[in-house]
Amino acid sequence: MSRLCVLPETWMNKRIGLIKVLRKRPVATLWLAALLAAYPASGHSMSADKDALLDALLRQMTVQEKIGQLRMQHARAAPPSSTELDAVARGEVGAMFTEPGITPAQIRALQQAATQRSRLRIPLFFAGDMVHGQRTIFPINLGQASSWDLDAIASAARVAAIEGSADGLDMTFAPVLDISRDPRWGRMSEGYGEDTYLAARIAQVVIRALQGPTLGASNSLMACVKHFAGYGAVEGGRDYNTTDMSERRLAEDHLPPFKAAVDAGAGAVMTALTSLNGVPATANRWLLQDVLRRQWQFNGLVISDHGAVAELTDHGIAEDGQGAAEAAFTAGTQMSMSDRYFARYLPSLIKQGLASEQQLDAAVRQVLSTKYDLGLFHDPFRRLQAPHAAVGEAQRLHRAEARDMARRSLVLLKNHKQVLPLNPHANIALVGPLADNALDILGSWHASGKPGHAITLRRGIENAQAPDARLVYAKGANISDDPLAFALLADNQMSFDPTAPETLIAQAVAAARRADVIVAALGEARGMSHEGASRTDLNLPEQQRALLRALKATGKPLVLVLMNGRPLTITEESQWADAVLETWFSGTEGGNAIADVLFGDYNPSGKLAVTFPRSAGQIPMYYNHLNTGRPFDPATPSAYRSRYYDIDDTPLYPFGFGLSYTRFSVSPPRLSSARLRSGQDLRVAATVRNEGTRSGETVVQLYVRDRSASVSRPVKQLIGFEKLLLEPGQTREVVLEIPQSALGFMDRDLRPVIEPGGFDVMVGLDSQALEKASFQVMP
Ligand code: NOJ
Repeated sequence: MSRLCVLPETWMNKRIGLIKVLRKRPVATLWLAALLAAYPASGHSMSADKDALLDALLRQMTVQEKIGQLRMQHARAAPPSSTELDAVARGEVGAMFTEPGITPAQIRALQQAATQRSRLRIPLFFAGDMVHGQRTIFPINLGQASSWDLDAIASAARVAAIEGSADGLDMTFAPVLDISRDPRWGRMSEGYGEDTYLAARIAQVVIRALQGPTLGASNSLMACVKHFAGYGAVEGGRDYNTTDMSERRLAEDHLPPFKAAVDAGAGAVMTALTSLNGVPATANRWLLQDVLRRQWQFNGLVISDHGAVAELTDHGIAEDGQGAAEAAFTAGTQMSMSDRYFARYLPSLIKQGLASEQQLDAAVRQVLSTKYDLGLFHDPFRRLQAPHAAVGEAQRLHRAEARDMARRSLVLLKNHKQVLPLNPHANIALVGPLADNALDILGSWHASGKPGHAITLRRGIENAQAPDARLVYAKGANISDDPLAFALLADNQMSFDPTAPETLIAQAVAAARRADVIVAALGEARGMSHEGASRTDLNLPEQQRALLRALKATGKPLVLVLMNGRPLTITEESQWADAVLETWFSGTEGGNAIADVLFGDYNPSGKLAVTFPRSAGQIPMYYNHLNTGRPFDPATPSAYRSRYYDIDDTPLYPFGFGLSYTRFSVSPPRLSSARLRSGQDLRVAATVRNEGTRSGETVVQLYVRDRSASVSRPVKQLIGFEKLLLEPGQTREVVLEIPQSALGFMDRDLRPVIEPGGFDVMVGLDSQALEKASFQVMP
């Protein structure tokens, strides 16, 4: 069979049309010959063919056409205007940043303009923010990370790829790999928490799940990992603020998840909006060239964040637009998102020799290579063929996967006197502004997810309760009594009940008095844990606290269901409530998933991927800190030690913490050797037992401490984990293989090193309650 036979007929016809058009052009035959020879039967393995095609195209392109390829233009969720289509037809656009809700028909119209009307017929690619789902919305990533369940996380990413590609998209601006230890930063909700190792493990499975076995498949999405780099450590947690950190901290804690993503084959990287040690990421030659290209050998596309090129003047590293374009482009930013700076200034920069044609060609080749890998030269409509037009929107959802992921992400923080699980026959008072709220449960980046498809907690409980049980609902409070303060938040649609606050509370208390148990769903609006949403105060908004206090006063068993995108300082609230369940923003199936846990149909297994401080004043608070020269020991308190004197200076809930309806025990670790030869790996075994009467899953966590090294090392560092299911009374031996390289760090010259000496290895079910053994790495 001729290799061209695999091309769909429509595309073949277009190509025949293209051949005719090109025959009229003097140089076309050459290009056409190369093009015909270059189309492969499948995939991007035929790199010689790919190179031939890209070479042929580059030879044909004018400087203007090349520059056009570097522009990612905003595409609204509306039929494209003739101005937009004409710009595409003139070859002024290389890719589209799509708004949620854009339809395949709208995308098709744009792609037709590119492939039928532009001189060289180069297809566009289409990108969007599918941060935690496309149509089926999964829990926010901070919640997904709390599952420590790589299979479930991969399945969520695969669903996003299936749904996003069926909607005509080729690339997702995900995963978010920013490590964050500052819950004041609203975007902590988008990432995978505070720990580098956990985030890097997740990054790898997410990349593979999104991109599938081959990027060219019609249900694969290219991952554009973001935000490179250091965005998670903005000063004071204030969004878009400056990041200033040591190279060691950057190299050891913030870069590894990105490196893991690159190693897993991530196709694109987005630069951060922020500056790193004085140099904005978008113009940071060291980050984009030395680290990304030379050290990591990244051969994908570098895209600026939205408007990041233009913002270089505000950063104060460029006098004007031309300076901004020069700084970004020459540093290694190849495609600019939603501004015209490259289009406007690259021609004069090249003319003046401030940017070279070779640089231009390299960037254009990268864009074309991305399109080739996505299979778009093969068939530009490959993600626009899905036969879902005939299928109702609701039928396209992946509810089972969403419910599974959501219930695995819930973290039981307190369960006094086993108030949970609830009896399905119990009469429940369900209160709180998030109890019957289909909007906020979807979380910050809900893409094309619809509140109308979301299961609220109220519906979830109704679905789970026995027919004879009563459910009384009362809102009890607004999310905030100061909606004006929130008016500027992204995505803010906080519904405000004008009833007097005291009346709302009185209604809730009346409902509570008639119930056996109170379930209070409190927390944040999704816009409060989002881009541009930083907080100085991490308490529940005051009116919600007042509601909880009043509910506590009824004396009824009180279950606090938290919905939020970051750790909240619920020090008092956790004392008032008998049980506390952290549910994050749990997505389309959130209500059912939460009900599964509340009624014990699923035994909670989530473990925090982030430390909960007692007070915002303790931030940054994270488990893998350095010891300092004066660590505070509560057993031998003294004045001149490192601590805050006005608070119990421990976390409210530590990293890795989460309860279950059963009890697990873990034995001290057993090591394959107490003396490791240089290069020898370590095997750590521990016995885990389900001591209770319910089956359940838990996460065995393995930490290491290098007791003495040439630079101070963290008091503990996660280097392995395993999630396992145990039946009541069942015992299992967990064996974790630790390569010796995992014991390494950056020496004083930032070179990777493993130093001989004493190490502690610790095993447990959270980062504090650990069993310890020691070993030596021999010289
Ligand atoms: C800005 C955000 O920082 C980034 O995460 C997002 O992908 C772009 N806007 C596009 O929406």
